[in-house]
Amino acid sequence: MKVTLSVIKADIGGYVGHSESHPDIIAKAAECLNKAKKDGLLIDCQATKCGDDLQLIMTHQKGTSSYDIHKLAWDTFVEGTKLAKKMKLYGAGQDMLKDSFAGNVKGMGPGLAEMEIEERISEPVLIFMADKTSAGAWNMPLYKMFADPFNTIGLVIAANMHNGFTFEVHDVKDHKKIRFNAPEEIYDMLVLIGAAARFAVKAVYHRDNGEIAAVSSTERLYESAGRYVGKDDPVCIVRSQGIFPAVGEVLEPFAAPILVQGWMRGSHMGPLMPVALIDSTPSRFDGPPRVICLGYQLCNGTLIGPRDMFADKSFDLARQQANEMADMMRRHGPFEPHRLPLEEMEYTTMPQVMEKLNGRFQSLDAPFKTKAPASHEQ
Ligand code: 13P
Ligand code: 13P
Ligand code: MG
Ligand code: MG
Repeated sequence: MKVTLSVIKADIGGYVGHSESHPDIIAKAAECLNKAKKDGLLIDCQATKCGDDLQLIMTHQKGTSSYDIHKLAWDTFVEGTKLAKKMKLYGAGQDMLKDSFAGNVKGMGPGLAEMEIEERISEPVLIFMADKTSAGAWNMPLYKMFADPFNTIGLVIAANMHNGFTFEVHDVKDHKKIRFNAPEEIYDMLVLIGAAARFAVKAVYHRDNGEIAAVSSTERLYESAGRYVGKDDPVCIVRSQGIFPAVGEVLEPFAAPILVQGWMRGSHMGPLMPVALIDSTPSRFDGPPRVICLGYQLCNGTLIGPRDMFADKSFDLARQQANEMADMMRRHGPFEPHRLPLEEMEYTTMPQVMEKLNGRFQSLDAPFKTKAPASHEQ
């Protein structure tokens, strides 16, 4: 049976500030989705959150980029935004960049990951959702899952994975795409995906049969908005077991927290902390960035789950390490490498401040035309 799994998300208002989504908003979204399920558009659905981002998880048979499914998601966000405005939640409608739906939510503010699959005899899927970080945050985890034998022993000892995986990489600035075969092209691929602000792993495919293994959201919110409104807070769907990495191999990259872009005002580097759903409440300096993972067994399109995959003691140490990394980064205050490098700050609110200073710059060789401030003359 062919089934499409669509995960579409947007920040339509935070409670309190950017720290969480209000339960009433999630309930409203669930109501919209359940109506669509009753009407036969969806097979199954769940509305949930990661931090201040509302997450719509839907199964159906309309394929990817379906007008009906995207319109349902858009309308659900519109309904949620109305409620968020009524409650005066913070940044109500933050990611709703357009006034009306134009056929596809891509480029309109929301982020999305969708895959159409032939459901296997058993179909475990893992849905990752992050808050306070950008598209590209999945690069290293996806690389580890599907190309690193130190993470995924199945690449070495399982015959059905031994030929490796194909990575589809998107240049999110120049809007181009390229495919690499792992393992033989990993060095070329790392040149690109190691620069996660520019290149993002969009999808991964099994090399023997072309089956999709993973898909992520790569929408850059600042590009769609033309200014900083919030971070991308991306999502990623990964299929597991059988010809794909085992559940534990898919989760393993998150046991060693890495630094990602995002955090306060979307302008910092900070550790990506794996947490249970209940702990996706980024509060310290609006962070540190969080990742949650909900696991499902698909059953003829029905979502059996979720299991809260990071609500496991074995991730306690990763959380502690992430907190320690957070302390270490915070020590730098407004200095790099905690603050993003200058070229990335272009996509924040900083250019407005730089604008003010532009007229004051003078040539290095010439004496200052303007007088030094009085305190310097003494
Ligand atoms: P089980 O024997 O529990 O099915 O586990 C098999 C496996 O491959 C775990 O990664
Ligand atoms: P969000 O992208 O999660 O809304 O966070 C924005 C921000 O500026 C946090 O400080
Ligand atoms: Mg927000
Ligand atoms: Mg967010």
